[in-house]
Amino acid sequence: MLGTETWLPDDAVIGERVELRADAPPAPTVGAGWLRSSHANLWDEGCRRDAVRNDFVVPALVEALRHSGHSRVIDLGAGTAYVLSELRRRSNRIRGVRFTAVEQEASLCEWLDEAHGREWLDVDHRNFLDGPRKPRGPALVISAYSLLEVEGPQLAYLRCSLQFGDTLVVSVATQAAATGQVRRSEVRRPYKRDRFTGLWYPLFEHPVGTLLDAFSAFGARLIGSRAVTTASEDHHSILVFRLDG
Ligand SMILES: C[S@@+](CC[C@H](N)C(=O)[O-])C[C@H]1O[C@@H](n2cnc3c(N)ncnc32)[C@H](O)[C@@H]1O
Repeated sequence: MLGTETWLPDDAVIGERVELRADAPPAPTVGAGWLRSSHANLWDEGCRRDAVRNDFVVPALVEALRHSGHSRVIDLGAGTAYVLSELRRRSNRIRGVRFTAVEQEASLCEWLDEAHGREWLDVDHRNFLDGPRKPRGPALVISAYSLLEVEGPQLAYLRCSLQFGDTLVVSVATQAAATGQVRRSEVRRPYKRDRFTGLWYPLFEHPVGTLLDAFSAFGARLIGSRAVTTASEDHHSILVFRLDG
């Protein structure tokens, strides 16, 4: 995937504002930090059955890890660490690679400690927008659907969790694949029903153009991209960036 596919069209729509609304949705049942340990097993089971994570996101990560040669992997907003554990399994437990799950929700961190032990996973309980990470050298940094909970202007603070030399893989749910257009303005869905847990939650659906602008402002260079369209109405983008030193 790296460097071989790009689908950003020349006639990208710039400055268009789109409001998406589900039909007669209920008020959100949860707010920020909505994924708690009480729904962790349901979430993990959902991930196991999820074609996008299993057939596209994890393979992209395996490839990115191999290409990069990094010996550290950091998942920003790891949830139940499904993506990390699959990456570890499918990369044949490459010797010497350390895995870190960054997660802001305390109850999930406890769940992570219990489910995965400290044998292979370091659990780092913090907000990844809050402060610099420990300077331990470049890493493969993952954000799988965690930017859905980050407001547009706050995207710039992602920089504090990155270091020069990092490879950053971001997967987002975006309409761009469906419309063939890159929308550069914010798309705010008031709420969406999570298909794994059934909870209604507020989210920010970042158009690919918004991410590219926000990340290029702090020196992240796009080196690969892939649009994934599934049989359902979901559309996803997987973007790979380098932070050049
Ligand atoms: C939609 S879930 C995705 C979980 C996992 N990445 C996956 O793909 O299954 C988003 C997770 O990111 C966490 N998260 C969101 N914003 C965060 C932040 N600023 N700092 C740390 N964790 C965050 C949430 O608590 C939640 O567990």
